[in-house]
Amino acid sequence: MNGEQRFDALIEADHKVEPKDWMPDGYRKTLIRQIAQHAHSEIIGMQPEGNWISRAPTLKRKAILMAKVQDEAGHGLYLYSAAETLGISRHEMMDLLHAGRHKYSSIFNYPTLTWADVGAVGWLVDGAAITNQLMLTRCSYGPYARAMVRICKEESFHQRQGYEIMLTLCRGSDDQKAMAQDALDRWWWPSLMMFGPHDADSTHSAQSTAWNIKRMSNDDLRQQFVDMTVPQAEFLGLQIPDPDLRWNEERQHYDFGEIDWDEFWAVVKGNGPLNRERIENKRRAWDEGEWVRAAAAAYADKHSSRSAVA
Ligand code: 3HC
Repeated sequence: MNGEQRFDALIEADHKVEPKDWMPDGYRKTLIRQIAQHAHSEIIGMQPEGNWISRAPTLKRKAILMAKVQDEAGHGLYLYSAAETLGISRHEMMDLLHAGRHKYSSIFNYPTLTWADVGAVGWLVDGAAITNQLMLTRCSYGPYARAMVRICKEESFHQRQGYEIMLTLCRGSDDQKAMAQDALDRWWWPSLMMFGPHDADSTHSAQSTAWNIKRMSNDDLRQQFVDMTVPQAEFLGLQIPDPDLRWNEERQHYDFGEIDWDEFWAVVKGNGPLNRERIENKRRAWDEGEWVRAAAAAYADKHSSRSAVA
C-alpha cells in the first residue's frame, strides 16, 4: 500500500492521522489554516476579557477572570504546538497573523463595554466554542483532536462562570438586569457568526468533511448552539434579540432569523469595530516580549550545551 492508499484507509476506517503519516498537501494546508486560526483566536481572545481584570467587581471575580484568561493563553499554546507538527513554525504563524494573512475568529473584534459583557462572553462565546470544539475532538488529525479534549474540559468552566455572572446580574437590581440584557443584545448575533457562513457558502466544508476534519456542518453546529442556549436565556429572564426566534414543533428545533452577512464579511475582512486595535495590541505585545524569548532561548542553549558536555 502506498502513502495515499494508507491515508485513504485511515480516513475510511475513521482512525487518526498522525504527524509522521503521509497526508495530501491539501489536508496539511487546511489543517495549518484552521489550527493556526484557532490558536490565534485563543490568544487575541484574551484581549476583550483581559480588559476587565483590573475592573472586576470583587476579588473572587478578578481571580476567576485571571484564571480564565490564563487558560486561553494555554489553549493557544496547545494549538500552536499542534500546528507545528504539520511543519509550520510558531514564528511563521505569528508573522502571518501580524501581516493580516492569517485570520482569527470575528467575535474578538467586538468591544467589552460593561462587566456584563464578561458574563455574556463566557456564556455565549465560550458556549459556542465548546459546541464547535466538542465536534473537533473527533477530528481525524490526532494532535488537534487530543488538544481539543484538554481544551473542552477547561472551556466548560469558562462557560459556567460566564453564565453565573449573568445569573447574578439578572437576580440583582433592575439596572444590573438591564446591563445583562444589553450585553445579550450586543453578543447574540456575533456569537452565531462564530460558526461561519451557511453551508452553501462555505469554502472548506465539503473537503473538510470528506477528510473527517469537520464532523458536523456550520449550520448544524449553529442550530445545536441555538437550541441549547435559548432555554438558558429564558431561565435568566432575558430576551434574545431575534423577532423570528420560535420553537418549531415539527422540526424539534428553534427557527431563528438571518445573520447580517454583510456585517460578518466586513468583520472577517478586517473592518470590524476593533480589528485594528486587536492586531496593534498583539504586535506590540510580541515586540515587547522579544527579550523574554531571547532570554529563554539563551538559557536553553546554555543548559543544553552544559548537559552535552557533562
Ligand atoms: N471568523 C473569522 N473567519 C471565519 C469565521 C469567523 N467566525 N467563520 C469562517 N471564517 C472564514 C474561514 O476561515 C474561511 O476563510 P479562509 O479560507 O481564509 O480560512 C472562510 O471564512 C469560509 O469559511 P468556511 O466555513 O469555508 O471555513 P471553515 O471550514 O474553516 O469553517 C470554522 C470555519 C467553523 C470557524 C472552522 O474554521 C473551525 O471550526 N475552526 C476551529 C474553531 C475556531 O477557530 N473557533 C474560533 C473561536 S476559538 C474561541 O472562541 C476560544 C474560546 O476559548 C473563547
